[in-house]
Amino acid sequence: MELPLSSLKEIAVKFKEEMHRGLAKEGTSLKMLPAFLSKPTGDETGVFVALDFGGTNVRILLVELLGNGKHKIIDRLSFPLKDIDGGYDYTASTVQKEELFAYISRKIQSLVNKETTYRLGHTFSFPCENKGLNQAFLIKWTKEIGTSGLEGQDIGLALIDALKEQNIRNVIPCAIINDTVGTLLTGAYQEKDCDIATILGTGHNTCYVERNNPWSQLPMIINIESGNFDRVPRTRYDHLLDESSERPGEQVLEKMVSGKYLGELVRLILIELNKKGEVFSNNDLTELLKTGMLTTTDISFALSTKQHRLLDIEKMFIERFKLESISDNDILLYQLVCRLVRDRSARLAAATYIGILQHIDPLLKEHHVIAVDGTLYEKLDCYSARLIDTLNELLEEKRNLVKLCLVKDGSGVGAAIAASMAELFSYGK
Ligand code: GLC
Repeated sequence: MELPLSSLKEIAVKFKEEMHRGLAKEGTSLKMLPAFLSKPTGDETGVFVALDFGGTNVRILLVELLGNGKHKIIDRLSFPLKDIDGGYDYTASTVQKEELFAYISRKIQSLVNKETTYRLGHTFSFPCENKGLNQAFLIKWTKEIGTSGLEGQDIGLALIDALKEQNIRNVIPCAIINDTVGTLLTGAYQEKDCDIATILGTGHNTCYVERNNPWSQLPMIINIESGNFDRVPRTRYDHLLDESSERPGEQVLEKMVSGKYLGELVRLILIELNKKGEVFSNNDLTELLKTGMLTTTDISFALSTKQHRLLDIEKMFIERFKLESISDNDILLYQLVCRLVRDRSARLAAATYIGILQHIDPLLKEHHVIAVDGTLYEKLDCYSARLIDTLNELLEEKRNLVKLCLVKDGSGVGAAIAASMAELFSYGK
């Protein structure tokens, strides 16, 4: 699991090569999807509806862009697409797109003022082929979502149809973007040097501003869909996880980096260590043998400096996993595995950012700000420190030129910025 600097440098070079292939539309794991948008000026203003659909939890925001890089969230609503008590599940393959978008439309209606007309920006955090700013065809679902009737279809149209069907006429969808793009727009709204944005959360992906884009003379934001990158050294645990996932062979990097999978990786490693008699010996592992029983929240708990008392962790294993005899060494080994999985995630992500920097600024002469959103970066103990350390190691004497910047609500605020730019932007009209 430990990746030395030399491996990270190789990964960065391979990532850059794949970016070039993707831009040239040669077969590669990187889709390099144009967003039909460039950077905002920071002076955009107005009130917009932002729909943020990035997983099983959907958010709707009323955002006021104040100009001068500032914004205000006027109101917000957050709701799950899947009821934990099993009442409904709009993410299941048995559900049709119409049902899903009718549900979302009703929620939009409940947030907006009936007398006002709004433009809506939609952050849809799945791989989409944009044909214009408000036309995005879902290539495939990721993050284990499977609602029927949407793959290959225009997401923009699905929302427009649902709003019409619900007789909601005062909300006008005008932009669909990826969450990385939203984060970049939000980062660049505040900081002019921001030209890369990344999500380190349930999913993982990065976008950047391509100055010489092959589609037009203007700079264009490109959604790399870097979670699908596959030229990385994989361990047998990665293969095991992949084989039991919804889509084996896909999203290779994401399965090593993102919060959706880190807990499962730890679980698989523990089970293998148990088979070798190195951890939790003389225990019944029935509960721990169940897929998905460990999550990134557990890793966070295990590594949190506030709660790292061994007793708390022991209690968790006894209560949740029904283990009976746990030694201090078991807990220390568990923490070590959590640390290894966390650090590998941060180091891999850093290597891909270096690949992007080498592509946009080969001699690294300019300042770059990388906007970051996502719970791994924001909340997982020491994750951001590992990421920064690794970037610094790789950048050596150029380390001062690259800055990471946490952008909260990037996908929501970014959707509002995209909606504000929709009129001005000529791509795809
Ligand atoms: C998944 C999606 C991608 C999204 C990322 C972060 O990788 O495919 O579009 O940006 O998750 O949410």
